[in-house]
Formats: sequence, C-alpha cells, structure tokens
Amino acid sequence: MYFASDNAGPVAPEIMRALARANEGAAMPYGDDAIMARVRTRIREIFEAPEAAVYLVATGTAANALSLATVTQPWQAVFCHRHAHIEEDECGAPEFFTGGAKLVLVDGDGARIDPEQLRKIVAGTADTGVHGVQRGALSITQLTELGTAYSLADIRALGKVAKSFDLPVHMDGARFANALVTLGCTPAEMTWKSGIDILSFGATKNGAMGVEAVILFDPEKAWEFELRRKRGAHLFSKHRFLSAQMEAYLADDLWLRLARHANEKAARLEAGIRALDSGIILQPRSANMLFAGWPRAGHIRAQAAQAQYYLWPFSQSLDGPEDEILTARLVCNWATTDEDIDRFLALLA
Ligand SMILES: Cc1ncc(COP(=O)(O)O)c(C=O)c1O
Repeated sequence: MYFASDNAGPVAPEIMRALARANEGAAMPYGDDAIMARVRTRIREIFEAPEAAVYLVATGTAANALSLATVTQPWQAVFCHRHAHIEEDECGAPEFFTGGAKLVLVDGDGARIDPEQLRKIVAGTADTGVHGVQRGALSITQLTELGTAYSLADIRALGKVAKSFDLPVHMDGARFANALVTLGCTPAEMTWKSGIDILSFGATKNGAMGVEAVILFDPEKAWEFELRRKRGAHLFSKHRFLSAQMEAYLADDLWLRLARHANEKAARLEAGIRALDSGIILQPRSANMLFAGWPRAGHIRAQAAQAQYYLWPFSQSLDGPEDEILTARLVCNWATTDEDIDRFLALLA
C-alpha cells in the first residue's frame, strides 16, 4: 500500500530489460551512444518538432533547474505558482543554477497560475528600473503539485500573457504523461502549439529508473544547455543507460499505458473514498494524484498496517479525537493494484 509518491513504484519490466540489453558490449559515452540518436529522432516525431534539441538528465530537479538557467539571466525573475515544485521542493536549485534569478510567486486555484494575476505581477515587475529584478521566464507545472491539470485553453492563456511580455515559457512535466492522457490531446498541443518553449519531460515517476528529457523546441540555446549540463555535473558518462530507459519508455506507447494505469487506479481510490461515510475529496482529481480526507481513526489503522502516504499538510498529527478529519496526499503509480487499493479502503472504512 504505497501511496506516498509515484516514485515509490518499481521500474517497468520493459525498461529493466532495455537496461540489460544496453549493457551488452561497449557504447560511446556522454550522449554519443546510438540509442540517444534514436531517442532524439523519436522525441522529435512524438512532439512533431523536427528542429527540437533533446537532452537527457537523471532527475527532475536537474531538468527544471538547467532549463530555467538556459532561458533566464541572474538578474531576472522566474514567475511560477506559489506551490510550484521549483519553489517548494528543489532546495533552491533553480536559484543556484540560474546564478540567482528570483522566483516570483503567483497564485491561482488548484496550484494553477491565474492568467490575470500573472499579467498584473509581470507588469509590475521591473517597475523600479535598475533596482529591481527584470522579467525573465514563466514556469508552469503539468500535472500541477495539487494533482490538477491545466486545460489546453489554460496553457494557451498563460502562454499569451507570457508572450505579450516576450517571456519564454517552461513546463515542468514531471507528470507529463499523466496529464496528457487526461487531456487526450497530442504532446505538441500540450506544449509548443500552446506556447511552451522548453519542457522538462518526466519519465522517472511513470516507470523509468531515473531519466528525464529536456526538450528545447527552439534549438537556438542548445549549445548553451549542453555546456550548462556538463558544468552542472549532469552529463552522464555512461549515458547509454539514460538513453535506453527513454527509448523503452516511448516504445509501443509504453509511457501512455503506464500513465493510464496510474490514473485509473487513482479514480478507483477516489470512488472508494467518496463512498466512505466521512470521506472528502479536497481537489478535483485530474490524473494519478488525489487529495482526500477521512477520520483520524482510519489513518491510525492504515498507518498501523504500514500504508505509506503523506498527511497533507504535514503539520497534522495522529494524536487527537478519532472522528476528526485529517487530510492526505495519495498518489498511484503504474504498478498500483486493485488489491492495494481495496485493502487500503477497507482500513479506512
Ligand atoms: C512536479 C515535480 N517536478 C519536479 C520534481 C523533481 O523530481 P526529482 O525528485 O527527480 O528531482 C518532482 C518530484 O517530486 C515533482 O513532483
């Protein structure tokens, strides 16, 4: 019963097998492996972006921080949601890799940036001339940190605001596949056709061992990205093992199948919690993350049975009245089973 994060899931067997195959014999290092050439071609096809520059790194934090550093100067602002992963969970990596760019926080329901707020905040930045940070880039997360998805119209509206100030737009797509299968659109529609310039394309949370692609839809800054990746200690020498994961992830739509599974399991979990006498759903669920609440007694039983998940917010305590509702974040992954969910629900009931 692992609902703490999709990172808690195992590696998909197809990806494990690809790693074993890649281990046969020698291959050129530092991204010059033959598999990487195929990955680049495949990602360009999937995203309908023949010119895109494509690179691999091993963590989502590296993908985000290096992407932002490539499109932002140290004296500029990166506009992001108050609850963005880059703001709350990356230990200052975006600030560090950009050389000190400032994260400027914007609000909006469900961790989605509100376009009108964005417009106001961007317009008010740089009002003080040389004394204030200058406008840099917009970063949005799809799926958001509260498990909601931006619609295509939402992304386009934000892209429009950003473009009106000439800002590049970054997407943190740590859960890109989960959002994509929810929207039922194409990868191109969810990105460059809606104004995204640079994408952190996650795979780790959705069945890979540890690989994320950075896709620059405009390759103008490709060389700069390469230099930053090396200087930032994220250019793998045995790169073929990153490439092999990404190739297997994309082959035969594995990535979409894994994400669909995770989303379906979260739907089952949601239905089960709604059916509890005192179950509540905090955020409308879009994909594989669920924010829900139920009485403390159910939490105590679940945790005694070794169910793994985070109370959300963290500050809540298991000590207190048994009928008080405590809220939690629950995340399903590509390997979550109906049995896991039903056992968990039985403990809460
Ligand atoms: C939305 C989002 N972006 C980025 C990351 C960073 O990934 P990593 O932990 O691989 O650095 C995470 C991981 O939790 C995430 O949830």
